Amino acid sequence: MSVTKKRIAVLISGGGSNLQALIDASKAPDYPAEIVLVISNQPDAYGLKRAEEAGIPTAVIFHKDFIKREAFDRALSEMIEAYHADMICLAGFMRVLSEWFVKRWDKKLLNIHPSLLPKFKGVDTHARALEAGDTEAGCTVHWVNAEVDGGEIIAQVRVPVLAGDTPEVLAKRVLEQEHQLYPQVLKEICSK
Ligand code: GRF
Repeated sequence: MSVTKKRIAVLISGGGSNLQALIDASKAPDYPAEIVLVISNQPDAYGLKRAEEAGIPTAVIFHKDFIKREAFDRALSEMIEAYHADMICLAGFMRVLSEWFVKRWDKKLLNIHPSLLPKFKGVDTHARALEAGDTEAGCTVHWVNAEVDGGEIIAQVRVPVLAGDTPEVLAKRVLEQEHQLYPQVLKEICSK
């Protein structure tokens, strides 16, 4: 039986290992979502190559070409609409989205964040977890609202912090879990 797949746009700024995890998962015939567009705000993002290799349309919308944040957001939204996307996954997208954008895509906009939210919103999450002496760290998939990393939490995975961990070592342990969690959550949401 064929499934009607939800159309997903993925927004990236960098390496795109989470994008790769979503691409790989979406290859399964019964996966309920397909990635129809990848947009980067950084022209040299490696994730763009990953998308091209997978045959997924890509676009660069360079934030510095826009004077106002909302004009950038409107350009993003127009392109996502042009591809008839049903939902958006942020995957290492390093731009804060305006209130207008998050309202336009309310409950259709997901993000993955490398901490156990509400702890450590923003950047340098692993260094901050180590500095705080936390014994566990992890990742969170959440709906995006106007508060950065503050939207409703959908799912989390915990990992232990081990003796001798550096931010890089901890990041790798967390990232492995991100690559499992994001495709799994997207699958659950798109199956509803
Ligand atoms: C991930 O840790 C993600 O949680 C965060 O940015 C990083 C992106 O990594 N939002 P990648 O580009 O998916 O490899």
